[in-house]
Amino acid sequence: MSTRYAIILAAGKGTRMKSKLYKVLHPVCGKPMVQHVVDQVSKLNINEIVTIIGHGAEKVKEQLGGQSKYALQQEQLGTAHAVMQAKEMLAGKEGVTIVVCGDTPLIKAETMEALFRHHEETNAKATILTAKLEDPTGYGRIIRNGEGFVEKIVEHKDATEDERTVKEINTGTYCFDNIALFQALQHVSNDNVQGEYYLPDVIEILKKQGETVSAYQTEDFEETLGVNDRVALAEAERIMRKRINEFHMRNGVTIIDPGHTYIGPDVEIGQDTIIYPGSVLSGKTVIGSDCQIGPNSEIRDCQVGMNTVIRQSVAHNSMIGSSVNIGPFAHIRPESNIHDEVRIGNFVEIKKSDFGKGSKASHLSYIGDAEVGSGVNIGCGSITVNYDGKNKYLTKIEDEVFIGCNSNLVAPVTIGRGAYVAAGSTITEDVPAEALSIARARQVNKENYVEKLNLKK
Ligand code: UD1
Ligand code: CA
Repeated sequence: MSTRYAIILAAGKGTRMKSKLYKVLHPVCGKPMVQHVVDQVSKLNINEIVTIIGHGAEKVKEQLGGQSKYALQQEQLGTAHAVMQAKEMLAGKEGVTIVVCGDTPLIKAETMEALFRHHEETNAKATILTAKLEDPTGYGRIIRNGEGFVEKIVEHKDATEDERTVKEINTGTYCFDNIALFQALQHVSNDNVQGEYYLPDVIEILKKQGETVSAYQTEDFEETLGVNDRVALAEAERIMRKRINEFHMRNGVTIIDPGHTYIGPDVEIGQDTIIYPGSVLSGKTVIGSDCQIGPNSEIRDCQVGMNTVIRQSVAHNSMIGSSVNIGPFAHIRPESNIHDEVRIGNFVEIKKSDFGKGSKASHLSYIGDAEVGSGVNIGCGSITVNYDGKNKYLTKIEDEVFIGCNSNLVAPVTIGRGAYVAAGSTITEDVPAEALSIARARQVNKENYVEKLNLKK
């Protein structure tokens, strides 16, 4: 196998998106398009990946980080000009270079691998990844000669009526002999409708030099969708969503309504978990087996154990254990650690708290900046008072504590192991272990007072 290089084209503005967000950063199933491309390319045993950046350069760099090297294209003069920007980094090196557009988020590593292999087997200087489309409008067309060999690629805008009837298109992904690529790029001109330096022109140049140019047609035309506007963006989203959902279903996950279930590309889900409609699972979320998620749950960057139920709830950036029961209508905010067998019921908000094994907050609570032990029961309406308007403080509730309904725990405060807090208490001082703490005004009953006030009509 020859040394492999990759060039990702990501400098364009994406005028047709009509957006302040640069095109390649638009997310598909929650992940920016260019990130999808680089993640797939990264699976290919590539020696050096160079991303061409221009519009939104800093943002693209921030997104991809160390996954790629970068070359800046100051002015967007076309795809050939874009590739030229990698000259300093790559020209003169022996090997094969794959060029991929940052706006083809559905392209798969396996297809690119097959393209590499085809390129090597045919001993070509250039191999184009092509696809047949029912509606090829907007794409560059593959023009073949009488014997079926590729002659050139003609852009839609430059194509004759006849050429426009061709359904085989340039997907924007190619393999090149690296030396031949940079040599041919010097001959590309901008003599076309758009006044741009087109990378596809390299094909005709190499062909005219008598070099072998080949094409590899993928069956999966959906994979080659180039996203230029928001209609195509929604189409990419639909295809990617289907692909992801089918992957999980084949892995033993039940998805009740795949058309209404939104799972990010990096989410992992265990067998026999059931996902109900309206659920959005994103980021680096990992869900164990035998869970029930949804309907309508939003889970981002969470680790969830086995046998856990999360109904109609939101959870972000947290650890959630096994056999936990959350919702309906609960909110688990970042940096929470919900241990096994916990119950978090309706209208309970947990923020940056550790919630110990088997503990419960079943109704109407706010637990923020707290360390809750195991076997704790937090009664309906009880809250931690963690914020004085300036600083946040810790509430510590030790194992087996019982917090009566509608109590305020004013932090910093510790409720000792096994203690009871009477309903309606406002606790401002530590409660010793095993104590009963009552912190509310004593009830006074004034007999016959209603009559005395003479309020009755
Ligand atoms: C391009 C191809 C077309 C192919 C289609 C596949 C050319 C001239 N045309 O057309 O044959 O069918 O992709 O989707 O290559 N870019 C830069 N710098 C530039 C111009 C573009 O980095 O100066 C980047 C863009 O950010 C984008 C990619 O190159 O990610 C493709 O550019 P775009 O303008 O979308 O090309 P298409 O018109 O779609
Ligand atoms: Ca495009």
